[in-house]
Amino acid sequence: MKILTVDTCPFPDQKPGTSGLRKKVPVFQQPHYLENFVQSIFDSIQAPPGATLVLGGDGRYYNRHAIQIILKMAAANGFGKVLAGRGGILSTPAASCVIRKYQTFGGIILSASHNPGGPTEDFGIKFNSSNGGPATETVTEAIFARSKNISAYRILEADDVALDQAGTTMLGNMQVEVIDPVADYADLMESLFDFGAIRALLGSGFRIRFDAMHAVNGPYAWEILEQRLGAPAGSVLNAVPLEDFGGGHPDPNLTYAHDLVEIMYGADAPDFGAASDGDGDRNMILGKRFFVTPSDSLAVLAANATLAPGYRSGLAGIARSMPTSAAADRVARALNIPCYETPTGWKFFGNLMDAGKVTLCGEESFGTGSSHVREKDGLWAVLFWLNILAARKQPVESIVREHWAKFGRNFYSRYDYEALPSDAANGLMQHLRDSFTSLAGRQFGRYAIQTCDDFSYTDPVDGSISKNQGVRLLFSDGSRIIFRLSGTGTDGATLRVYLEAYEADASMHHLDAQQALQELIAIALQVSELELRTGRNKPTVIT
Ligand code: G1P
Ligand code: ZN
Repeated sequence: MKILTVDTCPFPDQKPGTSGLRKKVPVFQQPHYLENFVQSIFDSIQAPPGATLVLGGDGRYYNRHAIQIILKMAAANGFGKVLAGRGGILSTPAASCVIRKYQTFGGIILSASHNPGGPTEDFGIKFNSSNGGPATETVTEAIFARSKNISAYRILEADDVALDQAGTTMLGNMQVEVIDPVADYADLMESLFDFGAIRALLGSGFRIRFDAMHAVNGPYAWEILEQRLGAPAGSVLNAVPLEDFGGGHPDPNLTYAHDLVEIMYGADAPDFGAASDGDGDRNMILGKRFFVTPSDSLAVLAANATLAPGYRSGLAGIARSMPTSAAADRVARALNIPCYETPTGWKFFGNLMDAGKVTLCGEESFGTGSSHVREKDGLWAVLFWLNILAARKQPVESIVREHWAKFGRNFYSRYDYEALPSDAANGLMQHLRDSFTSLAGRQFGRYAIQTCDDFSYTDPVDGSISKNQGVRLLFSDGSRIIFRLSGTGTDGATLRVYLEAYEADASMHHLDAQQALQELIAIALQVSELELRTGRNKPTVIT
């Protein structure tokens, strides 16, 4: 087997976004495109010769092809061993778990998360470091810089590796160990939660439905929920992973997880429903005809954490992304532990967890997790909820309502305007920044803007600064409107408008969020000139 050095020219568009490089499949299929990016990773991460790498993905279209290329490039770049998920499969949290458990140098994860898959849909690739978390901005910037001046890549001339059976083969001087993608992760979950109590709950007539959305978590949910915890067969829906997710949009929210939503709002609704996304790191939690917002879910998990064996000794701290509601902050205050506000994207939580400053973290975008791995973790959140339900023996809805009665309710919603022309979206953001001075102090009905800014974050661990992380209008009563452009979209620009209003008065907690947020929504549309600038009179998705 021979190592080839292949001449190439840089592509100008290989800048990693919120979570790695995401492009349409045909972009990745251009000759040398994937190879350039992989070589840029290898040139930037300075792995010692003989290092071990973890490799797997969410099984979407192009996953298998990309895995073979990356294996051959790893062999040509001096890696000693690759741990690859069987069939090329590893959910994002499972990849993080395997990187940590076997103390590898890092891993490459192939996924475009919640974006659709298929020959003309999305694909993605990212590097995770030895802590199991997404590479820091310093590393992703180095990868981007390298991609702009790359002139050659190295690849082994070899046959494809058999990936469908566990076992070890050699690829040149490099060992490829094909591992069970589920076992290590399932063992970790069993070490954190009271599986005995959950098994008893599920055996007592408490009914659950988990919608795997034809994505990577199907085999994980089947093994953990139906095999280890004894949920009746059929509790896991859409359990077979498909390269195009069955044509669906594998994003667990009220719009896209419609199979589950119909069941949970139907006549004979089960007691608990949940879904996860393409790569298994997001989650949505539902009770019987009741939706738990991700921001509330983080707060409820934090307030009840000590009911789970893995968290019995309490939490070091909580972190949430800036647009996530401040519900968790109130729990942190009550527990007398710190709460950190970070920019959007999981990579900002890693330093805080490595330094032991936080145990739980979450984002409004259906992401919740803890320091058990360094990614958000969909099934983990589901198991945490089941553990709490088993311990408290109350319905989901009454747990959340009691939580609001105690801490107050943070009404919350996010409006997404997808596939906008980039100029219009950038113009709107600039217009807001230009309006900061005139907006501060202005009164809109019962709301007064106290300050406006563009969120900037100084990492308390390494001092690194991340600027321009979202425009914030902060109101005197604690309400907030935030405008941000997505860093994961692949089609034009996506504008996200985040709305939050705090209500202490329990007699108002029954209101529907859209109703409670009406005035703030009107203010957001007015000050941003959204309709005028984008031509849109309604959002693409409301969550
Ligand atoms: C979105 C979410 C963000 C999440 C990321 C990866 O990023 O908003 O919270 O971390 O996906 O799942 P965005 O498209 O907003 O940059
Ligand atoms: Zn995801």
